[in-house]
Amino acid sequence: MLCTRRGPALRKRGAVRGGPPWLIGGTHSAGTTLSTLVVGVALGGGRLVWGQHACYRAAMKRRRTPGPWWLEFFARDYYDAYRRMPGGIGDPQRAEREVAFLRQQLGIARGTRVLDVACGHGRHALRLAAAGARVVGLDVSAFHLSLARGTSPADGPRWVRADMRRLPFAEGSFDVCYSMFTSFGYFADAAEDDQQLREMVRVLVPGGRVLIDVVSRDHVVRSFSPAHVVHLEDGGLFIEERRLDLVEGVIHTEYTHAAASGQIRRHVVQVRAYTATDLVRLLRAAGCELDAAFGGVDGRAVGLDGSRAIVVGRKVK
Ligand SMILES: C[S@@+](CC[C@H](N)C(=O)[O-])C[C@H]1O[C@@H](n2cnc3c(N)ncnc32)[C@H](O)[C@@H]1O
Repeated sequence: MLCTRRGPALRKRGAVRGGPPWLIGGTHSAGTTLSTLVVGVALGGGRLVWGQHACYRAAMKRRRTPGPWWLEFFARDYYDAYRRMPGGIGDPQRAEREVAFLRQQLGIARGTRVLDVACGHGRHALRLAAAGARVVGLDVSAFHLSLARGTSPADGPRWVRADMRRLPFAEGSFDVCYSMFTSFGYFADAAEDDQQLREMVRVLVPGGRVLIDVVSRDHVVRSFSPAHVVHLEDGGLFIEERRLDLVEGVIHTEYTHAAASGQIRRHVVQVRAYTATDLVRLLRAAGCELDAAFGGVDGRAVGLDGSRAIVVGRKVK
């Protein structure tokens, strides 16, 4: 009820005059509800008030994303929003820093056989291949792989489309393997995350190194923010609303992409959040000894000031 009252009220007061179409009522199934939410979020500088929150949750319940979220989510909306974020996947300096860190921690040199698991559009794989490593970039997303192939030189990485729980490579195929930018923790059952890591270790030579980089659960809890809005260059919005389940250790995020055209698309995402402590335990269980752990790609130690949980393991012979 609150939703349907607030939309017209806002319009009457002229609060949304002159804005893009989604500010004055969308054509989607939950039109007034989501228009109101988006207006509220836009006007409130990204903060959701209680009534809007309730409306939003009701709208989300009506349209849940079917199938595994990661099959659908990692496409155009995600890419457009995350490449525009400061320090996001479109920031070349961030990519350079991460690649320098990978080279140093994994000892990647000319000729090293490297597997980039969940490579996305290839920002690490391409740079490592350009430096002479023999790189395979693996991802499940046809969209991301087509971006990667589109920017790949003839002597660039080999691109493989596959599920990271079942890597299509023989044991001992790679010297090093990594997973960057929180590409770990995606599966409904935690045992499947373990399986992903075990697969990454299986395809390594004995003594080979594996690196996992995720946002640290310790950091997420300490700096938790329930909503975040990204203003897109075309006038659209990308809204993230988050909820923490500290029993299951899962961050639930509901994304609304409100395009300037008036089209609204939603995605529901669940990522299991890991601490560095958790990852060290998983590495050891997967047959590695711990090489190092970091709180950031600047090489800082795991501590209260880092936002990442990064572990490097070495496959036991
Ligand atoms: C957060 S993005 C990170 C991409 C890349 N590592 C980077 O740093 O830019 C996560 C990636 O994981 C991929 N992914 C998700 N589930 C996957 C699965 N089951 N198997 C392989 N790749 C998957 C997505 O398609 C997406 O490209």
